Amino acid sequence: MDIRRAIEERHSVRRFLNEPIEGEALERLEAAIDGANRESGLHIQLVRDEPGAFTGLLAHYGRFSGVQNYLAMVGRKSRGLGQAVGYYGERIVLEAQDRGLNTCWVGGTFNHRKARYRVAAGEKLVCLIAIGYGEDQGKPHRSKAMAKCCELGSHQMPAWFAAGMEAALLAPTALNQQNFMFMLQDGQTASAFSTGGLFSDVDLGIVRYHFEAVSGHEVIAR
Ligand SMILES: Cc1cc2nc3c(=O)[nH]c(=O)nc-3n(C[C@H](O)[C@H](O)[C@H](O)COP(=O)(O)O)c2cc1C
Repeated sequence: MDIRRAIEERHSVRRFLNEPIEGEALERLEAAIDGANRESGLHIQLVRDEPGAFTGLLAHYGRFSGVQNYLAMVGRKSRGLGQAVGYYGERIVLEAQDRGLNTCWVGGTFNHRKARYRVAAGEKLVCLIAIGYGEDQGKPHRSKAMAKCCELGSHQMPAWFAAGMEAALLAPTALNQQNFMFMLQDGQTASAFSTGGLFSDVDLGIVRYHFEAVSGHEVIAR
């Protein structure tokens, strides 16, 4: 997968064509979900041909149309659940983007009563990700300045860190809040924390994935 291209070309898409996900695209998507669930212990489910979750006032308010498929981001209740959902969900989102599919993370603007997914004892639903073939490719979001989202101490910014920051700033975040901070420790280790807000733990997982995938450096979450 061309990860940089997927990151640059991904934008939230809320209006979808009436075109089912099938064939090789479906196989790759299912493989990405299975891989994420195996590694993380999450219980991410692909729900297909099920428009109910995107009917009603909230979905309308969220400007969604034609959503037939979504990922239900389910996992065991724990402190790390939100971050794991963000990290592994975004890995699937970028795999889907690479395969020509479009997505939108959805924390609030869906019909909670009509969403279809399975939750085992001790698990909960964190959010959905709408997925399918978009009417368009979306558009780039407004972004904070890089300097507002990282601290370098007395060090120069290494090239790998700059590449990671650029990728993090292209990531989806709830309400486009970009409430995260990356730190360069001892000039060679990256760590990151959230500065708060709605779904901030999911956001932190998402931006960590972008940073790691492009920089090749692991990020310590704080
Ligand atoms: C955790 C999370 C929850 C989100 N919830 C919603 C939502 O409920 N409704 C919606 O329309 N967009 C939602 N979004 C999409 C964001 O508004 C979008 O990612 C942000 O504006 C940046 O735009 P981009 O994804 O096109 O780069 C959510 C994004 C994230 C990461």
